[in-house]
Amino acid sequence: MKDTTFKSRSLMPKCFFLIVLLSLSCFIFVFSKSAIFISKSGQVIQVGTGPNSEISPTLKIRPGYTSYDNYIHHQLQKTTNPKLRKIWTTRDWERKIHVFTQFFSDLKHKKLLSNESKALCVGARVGQEVEALKRVGVLDSIGLDLVPYPPLVIKGDFHHQPFDDETFDFEFSNVFDHALYPDKFVGEIQRTLKAGGICVLHVAISRRSDKYSANDLFSIHPLIKLFNGSDFVYTRKVDGFGLDTEVVFRKKNAII
Ligand SMILES: C[S@@+](CC[C@H](N)C(=O)[O-])C[C@H]1O[C@@H](n2cnc3c(N)ncnc32)[C@H](O)[C@@H]1O
Repeated sequence: MKDTTFKSRSLMPKCFFLIVLLSLSCFIFVFSKSAIFISKSGQVIQVGTGPNSEISPTLKIRPGYTSYDNYIHHQLQKTTNPKLRKIWTTRDWERKIHVFTQFFSDLKHKKLLSNESKALCVGARVGQEVEALKRVGVLDSIGLDLVPYPPLVIKGDFHHQPFDDETFDFEFSNVFDHALYPDKFVGEIQRTLKAGGICVLHVAISRRSDKYSANDLFSIHPLIKLFNGSDFVYTRKVDGFGLDTEVVFRKKNAII
């Protein structure tokens, strides 16, 4: 009787150790095949990075939009806020233009943008990026946003750009994360770019974007897939208002 109790007592730590070891192995196995991101809202997003990453999506549409109107309404909440618009057009005005000017000067040096380019900024809000383009000499520049800001920004939805096919030589956007339909967002850029035209996107890959974002991007591969009518030119790390990656595409020439 005494012996049995002693034996079962000595077995307990061994069993406990075995369970801990097994749990740890499972934990390491699962997490070696995935990455965890925690969004600003506290939402935990798990994305595959192991051999299955081709299957695991690295572009996720955020749930919660009940209709297209609901999505537009959400986007407008921030853009139409009078206090914020005052800040964007006063305190933030020059600071932001200065940063955009550096990005566009760099693209001019790389011969991806010139003074002769007809340029569009997609999701330009109050148009600091448009003003920056003009200051570096790209005078034929315009912005597009849900809310107009004349004369720099005209009203329009980037899912249905109000421009003819093959209008622009250059399109810039730092609002890919606001697209509810990323395929339409990219499709419209490719439609309105001339053959050989350049698209420059600033996106967040390693950081989570804000609560007004409609999608989360975890690698540039979905972009390369979406830009199927364009050649990938390059990608590089940047520091652009919370966006960390510049990705550049050139629209293919039409096959005759
Ligand atoms: C983060 S802000 C970027 C503003 C600007 N590019 C800048 O850096 O100052 C996102 C902008 O995208 C606009 N936006 C969101 N959804 C849009 C849509 N479907 N069509 C056009 N603009 C949209 C918003 O109104 C907002 O001005």
